[in-house]
Amino acid sequence: MSQILVAGGAGYIGSHTVKELRAQGYDVVVFDDLSSGRRDFVRDAELVVGDLMDKEAVRAAFRGRDVAAVLHFASLIQVGESYLHPRRYYTRNLVSSLNLLDALLEAGVRTMIFSSSAAVYGVPLRIPLTEDHPLDPFNPYGQTKFMVERILQDYDRAYGLKFVSLRYFNASGADPDGTLGECHDPETHLIPNILRAVTGRTEALDIFGEDFPTPDGTAVRDYIHVTDLAAAHVLALKKLGEAPRSEFINLGTNRGYSVREVIAAAERVTGRTVPVRVKPRREGDVPVLLASKDKAERVLAWTPRYSDLETIIGTAWAWQRKG
Ligand code: UFG
Repeated sequence: MSQILVAGGAGYIGSHTVKELRAQGYDVVVFDDLSSGRRDFVRDAELVVGDLMDKEAVRAAFRGRDVAAVLHFASLIQVGESYLHPRRYYTRNLVSSLNLLDALLEAGVRTMIFSSSAAVYGVPLRIPLTEDHPLDPFNPYGQTKFMVERILQDYDRAYGLKFVSLRYFNASGADPDGTLGECHDPETHLIPNILRAVTGRTEALDIFGEDFPTPDGTAVRDYIHVTDLAAAHVLALKKLGEAPRSEFINLGTNRGYSVREVIAAAERVTGRTVPVRVKPRREGDVPVLLASKDKAERVLAWTPRYSDLETIIGTAWAWQRKG
């Protein structure tokens, strides 16, 4: 039986997607160096521990397997760190992607799903962001996602690689069954940081900026539940099987919440007060990021099911209390 190879399948979004793939009967092999992923997140699939920077190890992962498609989640993801250490970001995110692409082409694979980001757009010129919005990433992390998208386009033209590049907005929440969740180190994302402040693991939540041109002055984001992201990957895979055509597709809800609104929702869900401190803006944060989800609905027949704020925070809260 052919297999789906999932690079980065032990990480946050990758592991939720592996779970969804398995639920739909796919045979999955995960390739992950466990630098940020967790062995116990790969519950129902084969795990090959290896580093995408090691070209031979990547090639070896394809040997002796009938790989039908590759999902590529593995990358460094911290925007702030990418400003400080651009070399690390360009090297890792680009070389690892090139190695993976070489290996899959050599193995005869022509189907790939890539984890891209809203960061490819840079500062929005209009909201909601549609996929044809100009691409002008302003941080090295976003640049690496943009560059891999360009490489994919060229590989489509030259080698017939068909891909779907999924541009995630704010991935959040945890598996509703409670078996998987978010655990970044260091944690920089808003919702886990709110929940850490609620439980006293940190002194307070830092609100980065209250002087944005938004109704309450805090930044607005489009939060999308990780289980909805996982479902979109499986739909994208099916779509490429039926009609092989490369696409760039946003994954968001077209609904935005400010930092203050997320805090208020977290207080409702947890029944506790969130201690806060107002800090200056974080470098590179834009006032509003909102996805148009029209293309995802049209091309993938995808509808977010878990992405209301209460469910996102409720599942993240259940996960955090387990950990
Ligand atoms: N925020 C706080 N306090 C925190 C953490 C975040 O106030 O402790 C604020 C941020 O300033 C921002 C919002 O909450 O306004 C959301 O911040 P996140 O760090 O959760 O997410 P970002 O929108 O900064 O980043 C996400 C992804 C990136 C991706 C980006 C798209 O994590 O990978 O969206 O631009 F690049």
